[in-house]
Amino acid sequence: MRLLVTGGAGYVGSHCARALCDAGHEVVVLDDLSAGHEWALDRRARFVRGDIADRALLSRVLDGASFDGVLHFAAFLDVGESVREPLKYYRNNVAGTVTLLEAMRDHGVRRLVFSSTCATYGVPPRVPITEDMPQDPINPYGRTKLAIEWALRDSAAAWGLGACALRYFNAAGAASDGAIGEDHHPESHLIPLVLQVALGQRPHIGIFGDDYPTPDGTCIRDYIHVEDLASIHRIAIESQQAGAFRAFNVGTGVGTSVKEVIDAARSVTGHPIPAVVSPRREGDPPQLFADPSKAQRDLGWQARFADIRDVVESAWRWHRGRPQDGRGS
Ligand code: UFG
Repeated sequence: MRLLVTGGAGYVGSHCARALCDAGHEVVVLDDLSAGHEWALDRRARFVRGDIADRALLSRVLDGASFDGVLHFAAFLDVGESVREPLKYYRNNVAGTVTLLEAMRDHGVRRLVFSSTCATYGVPPRVPITEDMPQDPINPYGRTKLAIEWALRDSAAAWGLGACALRYFNAAGAASDGAIGEDHHPESHLIPLVLQVALGQRPHIGIFGDDYPTPDGTCIRDYIHVEDLASIHRIAIESQQAGAFRAFNVGTGVGTSVKEVIDAARSVTGHPIPAVVSPRREGDPPQLFADPSKAQRDLGWQARFADIRDVVESAWRWHRGRPQDGRGS
């Protein structure tokens, strides 16, 4: 298939672009490099530097060849920033996606796989989370992703778009060969921060609250390996029919607490990783983990990395192996 990957220089997008190239697809990456990295680009893919909101550029890209589908990763993803600057998120995530959808409609591109998030559920009534639970996000980031899901449903009904929303839980880990991995600026995610402590780049990790109603008092998340995310994207785009909207939770089904992540990192790195309990971070639901059975049933997909130690181990290989000057390996 000929596929356009927006945000293909970002963390999840670059691992997906790689998996799509591995599977023999012809890939064009569109990325403005505002958060993505040149070193994360797959050399087998054609790279176009630019913004999804640039309608003229999108037309030039889509005019040149007949695309079978789009995998759409380009988005801002910092929850805290989305609270402070909501319009930046609505502009980039929602308006940018509308521009992309208009271009797809006008060029007859009918298949889309979209990076959605478990943040669209807000605080779920119970765990594990199934796809039919109410979507009631508690921050602007989650609301932009939910607004896009509605734009996809409505486009499916109105002009035959075939769309698959993949609601990721916590993306984690790095490529098995250590070539690419997670690198956000600033970094706010638990696993990279913990590994920066092990590398001596930070004195300790702060635990955001240990008085949650969970067995060890710290928040529980579902850490899904980025290569498992890549494989479900490939399956989703290959199987997507025009005119249909589908949504899947993408997680392991296993909940892991903050303390368990830190313990896994201690055992993988051999570093004591000092931890300091700090106040709760606003907007953190106590427990989020997926019921991934719908993806297993309908797509035949299942996470290969189910053990948090394997996830941390792969992230560690990447963090330890890369030059310490901020570039990739
Ligand atoms: N945490 C700490 N200390 C830190 C960083 C994180 O204790 O220094 C905790 C958080 O409180 C949370 C867990 O570790 O309980 C995971 O936090 P992350 O920031 O790594 O990830 P989030 O669960 O906040 O965010 C992820 C995605 C978001 C998405 C969100 C949905 O990264 O894009 O899930 O809830 F919106």
